[in-house]
Formats: sequence, structure tokens, C-alpha cells
Amino acid sequence: MLILGIETSCDETGVALYHTQQGLLSHALHSQTEMHGEYGGVVPELASRDHIRRVLPLVRQTCAAAGLDLKALDAIAYTQGPGLAGALLVGASIAAALGFALEIPVLGIHHLEGHLLSPLLSDPAPAFPFVALLVSGGHTQLMEVSGLGLYKLLGETVDDAAGEAFDKTAKLLGLGYPGGPALSKLADEFFRSGQPNQFKLPRPMLRSGDLNFSFSGLKTAVLTLARKQPLTQQTRGALASAFQEAVVDVLTEKSLAALSRTGLTQLVVAGGVGANRQLRNNLCREAEKMGATVFFPELEFCTDNGAMIAFAGAMRLQVPETWNKKLDNTFTIKARWDLEMQDAAGE
Ligand code: KG4
Ligand code: ZN
Repeated sequence: MLILGIETSCDETGVALYHTQQGLLSHALHSQTEMHGEYGGVVPELASRDHIRRVLPLVRQTCAAAGLDLKALDAIAYTQGPGLAGALLVGASIAAALGFALEIPVLGIHHLEGHLLSPLLSDPAPAFPFVALLVSGGHTQLMEVSGLGLYKLLGETVDDAAGEAFDKTAKLLGLGYPGGPALSKLADEFFRSGQPNQFKLPRPMLRSGDLNFSFSGLKTAVLTLARKQPLTQQTRGALASAFQEAVVDVLTEKSLAALSRTGLTQLVVAGGVGANRQLRNNLCREAEKMGATVFFPELEFCTDNGAMIAFAGAMRLQVPETWNKKLDNTFTIKARWDLEMQDAAGE
């Protein structure tokens, strides 16, 4: 079966073709970061308008790259939520229109389900059950994943998401938007230079006894230190490194605690912060010590993309009770949507 995936929940238009036997056939992405960079953050109205401009050309490009016509499609999967309402509506309406024209099913996919299943696109892939650490710009969650649609929340951030904390800290260090990758690069360079770090930041909620996180205090701690001294390149590197180390330490310890609590031995890391090199290295090293294995999506599938939506759609398509079979040309979006409860609403 051939599935077209469409992702438009935030500032990336992602389109992909996934075949249940042949795997991922083609994918294309347009990132709006440059456009939003001018404003220091995502401007929802501009995001929606840009998705409208990009999505159909990307669909054509993806089909051409696979040498396939739209008529070959068996289903369409789109990101139904959570995300920016206007941006979601673009993907949802295009998916519904194509589904109507081609008389094929249209599946609404939870964006975070896309992220947490994305390591299954890699080889070797994890098998259910596993623990998933979802670390994106909007979410930081530990989930116990027993099967498709069977997600139990083990812990989450009580304030900023990890990616959000990276972006806000990067901004106050003058690294632009979105600054996560730039901050990480600066931190890695400082670390590699071998200089001693004069800064040490707290590890928020490390001993809280649960699997929750808090990251907003770290950003404030960096701000307080940055105001006390001239922001030289050396100071910025040291602060970036101290910040990254604190976030990585907490994410690593809580992920390992989640493995211990559940008795599971596979950890899946998904979402944009999963691209962070220090997090990847640290998690692998520490998990190995307790006999666990860590799985990451390919770097290009860590951040938002269409492949993870096409893949999640393909998985659901093969299990009829996990999707709604009505072909009535209506579509819905859910700007706020709890992953744990996603199948409870009967949609
Ligand atoms: O999953 P994603 O593309 O979008 C959301 O669904 O939020 O994640 C984007 C987030 C941004 O906050 C970005 O700064 C962060 O992931 N990010 C990183 C790195 N690459 C992306 N954070 C730290 N280190 C990185 N290498
Ligand atoms: Zn995402």
C-alpha cells in the first residue's frame, strides 16, 4: 500500500511517500525558519500562508522523485494536531481534497505519534514495547509505548520544553532563532577546546522522585550569569556548554530512571532535540552501562518531516481498528491534543 504523508503543524512543510513493502520512496521538506527568523519566532499567519504556497508543489516533487502518479496512492495521512490551527488546516484541507478526488481514505495523525514512531524508519529499528523520550520545541515527555496507539505518559515538563529552553537561551546569548542547533554547536566547540568551565548550572528536578522535568529556571540562571559579565565569545561558549550539559544530564538520568521503572530495555529518542550530539552520546554511553539500547531517528527525521507522518499513517492503515474508515470528505484538526487520549475520542 502506498501512503502520502503531509506535515504542516508548525514551520516546516513536509511531504513523503511511504510504501508498506518497499519503505520510504521519497520525501521533500521546506523549512520556514529563515522567514520567521526575521521576527525572532514563528508568526502563525505567515506559517499558514507559506504552507499554502509550498504543499502542492512538494506533493508533485515527491511523486516525481518516486516516479509515481497520485492515482497510485492508497491513502493519505496528514498531521491532525497538535500545532498551529491555521497551519494544520492547510495540510488537513489539502489531504481531504486529494482524498475526495482520488476516492481513498484520509487519516489524521498525531504529530507526536509521528515523532515517536520515526526511529522505526531506521535499520535496526526498535520493537514494541519501548520507552520514548520526546524532546521537541513544544514537548518534553517520557512515554511507555506498548504498541501502536498504546501510549502511557510517564513524565513531562512542568514548564518549558527542552527545545524551547535551548531556543530561549540561544536568543539571550545572541544566537538568533531557532537557536537550538547554534547553541549546541557553540557548546560543542567550547567543550572540544578543553578549557575549564567557570560556570556550573543546577540540575532542575533531578531528585524530584518522579519523571517530570523543568527547564525554565536554567534559562533564567544563564540570563543572571550573562548580565554579571561582559558577553565575550569565551563566556558565551562556557554558558552554552554549561546549559547543554545540565539539560543533557537531566534528560539522560530521567530516561534511564524510566527504563528502570518500566523494566524495559529499549529507549527511543525523538523530536528536534534528539539531533543534539551530546545528548545522543551521553544516552548511548549511560544506557549501555545498564544493558539498554538507544534508538534515534535519522538526523533528517529528528525535526518535523513528512516521512514520519506517512509512516504512522501506513502503520495505522494496516490495523483497521486504529483509524476511522468513514469517507465523508469532512476533516478536523486538533490544535491541542493529548497523545495518551488520542484514540479515546473515537475520531
Ligand atoms: O521536533 P521539532 O522539529 O519541532 C517541534 O515539533 O517542536 O523540534 C524543534 C526543536 C527546536 O526547539 C530546535 O531548537 C531544537 O528542536 N533542536 C535542537 C537541535 N536541533 C534542533 N536542540 C538542541 N540541539 C540540537 N542539535
Ligand atoms: Zn515536531
